[in-house]
Amino acid sequence: MKKTIKDIDVKGKRVVVRCDFNVPMQDGAITDDNRIVAALPTIKYLVENGAKIVLMSHMGRPKGEPKMEFTLAPVAKRLEELLGQPVKFISCPEVVNDEVKEAVATLADGEVMLLENVRFRKEETDNDAGFAKELASLGEIFVQEAFGTAHRAHASTAGIADYLPAVSGFLIEKEVKFLGSAVENPERPFVAIMGGAKVGDKIPVIENLLQKVDTLIIGGGMAYTFFKSMGLEIGKSILDADNIELAGKLLEKAEAMGVKMLIPVDTVCAADFDNDAETLICDRDAIPADMEGLDIGPKTVELYKEALKDAKTIVWNGPMGVFEMPNFAKGTKAIAEILAESDAITIIGGGDSAAAAEQFGLADKMTHISTGGGASLEFLEGKVLPGIAVIEDK
Ligand code: 3PG
Repeated sequence: MKKTIKDIDVKGKRVVVRCDFNVPMQDGAITDDNRIVAALPTIKYLVENGAKIVLMSHMGRPKGEPKMEFTLAPVAKRLEELLGQPVKFISCPEVVNDEVKEAVATLADGEVMLLENVRFRKEETDNDAGFAKELASLGEIFVQEAFGTAHRAHASTAGIADYLPAVSGFLIEKEVKFLGSAVENPERPFVAIMGGAKVGDKIPVIENLLQKVDTLIIGGGMAYTFFKSMGLEIGKSILDADNIELAGKLLEKAEAMGVKMLIPVDTVCAADFDNDAETLICDRDAIPADMEGLDIGPKTVELYKEALKDAKTIVWNGPMGVFEMPNFAKGTKAIAEILAESDAITIIGGGDSAAAAEQFGLADKMTHISTGGGASLEFLEGKVLPGIAVIEDK
């Protein structure tokens, strides 16, 4: 068990909190503030308990340069609205300078400030000890709350813990509770649904989950690589050519282990990668040479519905088709609806499947939606995330 903010006294202390405020933006406006909302319980607890709060985060990948399209200014504004109190924000390329230090030194109990994007400094992603020390010098306690970035060993996510006592916030605690118990101690039957374009990206997670699940369901673009490994023709469908053999081996492995591994039996094909393209629903052994599969078909939806019927734990990572285009969203929507209606513990690994659940208005029907895309995937692979490893044990 990791220490949390409840295990320490924060009154009057300067607390440096690493959040993941890497939220999607369009034309300077935040399009989805879930990651900010997810950090509120921790921030509010620290406010109510009289800490002096210094928040930090990255945004995008400015590659160590102060590119203003990646400023955290819009996040500071949104945070003010959500918290209902001022959030001090000083934008500077150095992230920490004399003005910032002065502002931190004069914070009153319960006041909040946000640093500029830590990735404006190249030393952040290098996990540079000097920058970690600079960040640490702003506080007396480090709170890890950035689950979405916990798979990165950077100065603000890992290095800083060499210089400050490190505890977790409530979001990290929640993510580890749901994802951890799904993987280590699931209520059974445990079914995992894996989607997404490339098998290669999901191999480690499929291999790890095969040892834990009762049933593994495959969907999305990677299904066509599995079809190919079975000797089927896939027309113009996406193919992960380097991993055809491996896909076949995964099917054999599942069989040898007695794990039910389901791959689609039919598919929605299109003449082009276009929402308005001519479509055809066909069995997986009848994909026309001049078409590409862009979604799972209705027979597959029925098959998966049956497989999910008695599940007690369901983990879902990756869409079933190109859900961004309405004509190829039906498979992903059907899976989201099955999960929404299920009595099972339903956990969605972040990224695209989380976005899909949001898009269909079903997000609040899930037990837990992770705020981490890459991080939740690495967690499900069974990896130790560096940002979590640095948190002190109880
Ligand atoms: C994410 O959105 O997955 C996290 O914020 C991590 O971002 P990164 O992949 O740029 O490190």
